[in-house]
Amino acid sequence: MVQKMANQSKKAILMLLYEHQDQFLSGQRISELLGCSRTAVWKQIKALIDDGFQIQSVQKKGYKLLSSPEGLNEAAVKAGLRTKKLGQMIYFFDKIGSTQKEALRIADEGAPDGTLVLTNEQTQGRGRLGHTWQSQRGTNIAMSLILRPDLPIDKTPQLTLLTAVAATETIEKVTGLSCGIKWPNDILYKGKKLVGILTELQAESTYVKAVVIGIGINVNTEPEAIQETINQVASSLHAITGEHYALAPFIQSFLVLFEKLYEQYLERGFSAIRPLWERRAINLGKQIKVRQPGGRILEGVARGINDDGVLLLEKGDGSITRVYSADIEW
Ligand code: BTN
Repeated sequence: MVQKMANQSKKAILMLLYEHQDQFLSGQRISELLGCSRTAVWKQIKALIDDGFQIQSVQKKGYKLLSSPEGLNEAAVKAGLRTKKLGQMIYFFDKIGSTQKEALRIADEGAPDGTLVLTNEQTQGRGRLGHTWQSQRGTNIAMSLILRPDLPIDKTPQLTLLTAVAATETIEKVTGLSCGIKWPNDILYKGKKLVGILTELQAESTYVKAVVIGIGINVNTEPEAIQETINQVASSLHAITGEHYALAPFIQSFLVLFEKLYEQYLERGFSAIRPLWERRAINLGKQIKVRQPGGRILEGVARGINDDGVLLLEKGDGSITRVYSADIEW
């Protein structure tokens, strides 16, 4: 109990330091804001320094956050986050098997709309269609978002497409790179995959209880550490631009952009998202090979998506087949 309270005030102090990053905050002010003693503040400042935060302490001025340990922490993402709902509740894990698995578990326990599950290190990341997802400690983004839209099940693929638009727009805003989307939701730059999205549902009869959207973004992976699979060439934003990107502001930008698109979607439906997705789509009008779950392969021209976000494949005989879930090759 005492330890839990100490951890909570440590978190709260860190939030305040992030929120006042370029200025000193006195011990007195912190203790007033948090309703604890100055000795308790000093104890938690020491604990933060032990955790690897560099905090400058100057008599009569107070404390100033100079730097944080590599990777992510909850306060860095929460401080200054300009969203209404998304990420206002964060479950942060320094290390976890899969944020997706955890998000499904806490969604089942009633976690609210907009809850974010985030980690510094994911050891058993899950991908689409039974694939795995690799992500090195402290260098990449691995997170799962819990949404509770009032939506019939058959509309949920639209949220996957919306997520892909939010991710490409975030990458463009943060790095200047303009990426393409391979249906349904792989984000590629010059044919190399940078982002993976996995959408899973908790549903009752035809209605959705929760949608859990898992997003993996290869941000700062060094070129030599990039792991490729047989059918997928991967890259990272750092490998492409040579820059390193701070992860917390990246996540904040994503959440803000996602929330804006999500509000438009809930108000106006998929017509608000479809043109944005189509503008980024790289395989429309192209001859593609579709590997469906179970191994069945279809070939044809990707003609577009319908209002449910389903891919329309025109086969050699001119007939149109709807593709709900598959790996695309070309
Ligand atoms: C894919 O392209 O196959 C989808 C990959 C999705 C990976 C993310 S990383 C965060 C979340 N947790 C997981 O275990 N998987 C998703």
